[in-house]
Amino acid sequence: MQINQHAKLSIAPMMDWTDRHCRYLHRLLSGQTLLYTEMVTSAALIRGQSVHLLDHSAAEHPVALQLGGSDPAELAQAAKLGEDAGYCEINLNVGCPSDRVQSGCFGAVLMERPALVADCVSAMRSAVSVPVTVKCRIGVDDQDPEEVLPEFLARVVGTGCDRVSIHARKAWLQGLSPKENRDIPPLDYDLVMRMKGLFPNLEITINGGITSLEQARAFLEAGLDGVMIGRAAYHDPAAILCRADPLIYGVGEATVPEQAVLQMLPYIDAHLMQGGKLGQITRHMLGLFTGRPGARAWRRVLSEGAHHPGAGPALVEQALTHVVRRDAA
Ligand SMILES: Cc1cc2nc3c(=O)[nH]c(=O)nc-3n(C[C@H](O)[C@H](O)[C@H](O)COP(=O)(O)O)c2cc1C
Repeated sequence: MQINQHAKLSIAPMMDWTDRHCRYLHRLLSGQTLLYTEMVTSAALIRGQSVHLLDHSAAEHPVALQLGGSDPAELAQAAKLGEDAGYCEINLNVGCPSDRVQSGCFGAVLMERPALVADCVSAMRSAVSVPVTVKCRIGVDDQDPEEVLPEFLARVVGTGCDRVSIHARKAWLQGLSPKENRDIPPLDYDLVMRMKGLFPNLEITINGGITSLEQARAFLEAGLDGVMIGRAAYHDPAAILCRADPLIYGVGEATVPEQAVLQMLPYIDAHLMQGGKLGQITRHMLGLFTGRPGARAWRRVLSEGAHHPGAGPALVEQALTHVVRRDAA
């Protein structure tokens, strides 16, 4: 399957959330969904020489690396490092509104500098042979999205960008926290739909506020190429990922979260053997049984026990005994 096919459903890049352990879990729940890393800055990779930030497991594939930056040459170098590390797509962050990111002149503030974004994408494009994609907003601050989004996309299309994921709301760079910027500016799905009409040859993924596979399917049926889900997939991964393979890709069967938990045990063991901590993995598993009988006890056993010395796979197995199987409930 080509990456653009996998991109029919993707799990959004989320700092501190979609780390390698989270992606390993998500991959057990869906074999096809495209996964994204947290954002890694090109400066950390090139100037900070923090190449360990690219570490991941081959089992996570297909997985895309998201980069933050605005220096075309540095981004090109970082993209190459990402390709060499095995990532199947390199994505440029043009949507993140945090202060730190604004001060480094990248993220959502780049919506105001489409020519620079085009230079960045062109430089990345010529450095790698895997797809290069962009994740953006519909505008920032007092920009008029109806005007700036088509201009922005026209620039990006000209670079040979392989896909654009559009978070269907503005970012307000002054006055709102990054968290507020994910909820307060209103969503405009209709504008994103119209962009597909204007740029029929550009692969367009919609993002923002999507909470179910049914909603995702409706967007695909309406003509969009992909749907990206962030928070809903993190908080209730089973609801989004367990049926994704049959429902979105028409392959395989629905997966079972209990099974994924058992498959995590050897991974957890290996992590502990290397000196890692149980909580680094189990924190991503807390939402696995959301809405099911026993979910609260599952979360409690893991959150209270994971930090005790010697805690390991046995704690996870113990937590699992609290979860009542759906057909037995
Ligand atoms: C904790 C957290 C961290 C995020 N970090 C990033 C990031 O590193 N890069 C990025 O492009 N977007 C980031 N986002 C934004 C998400 O990728 C996504 O665009 C946003 O949450 C809207 O999608 P949703 O409503 O499905 O969650 C983050 C979101 C959250 C909740």
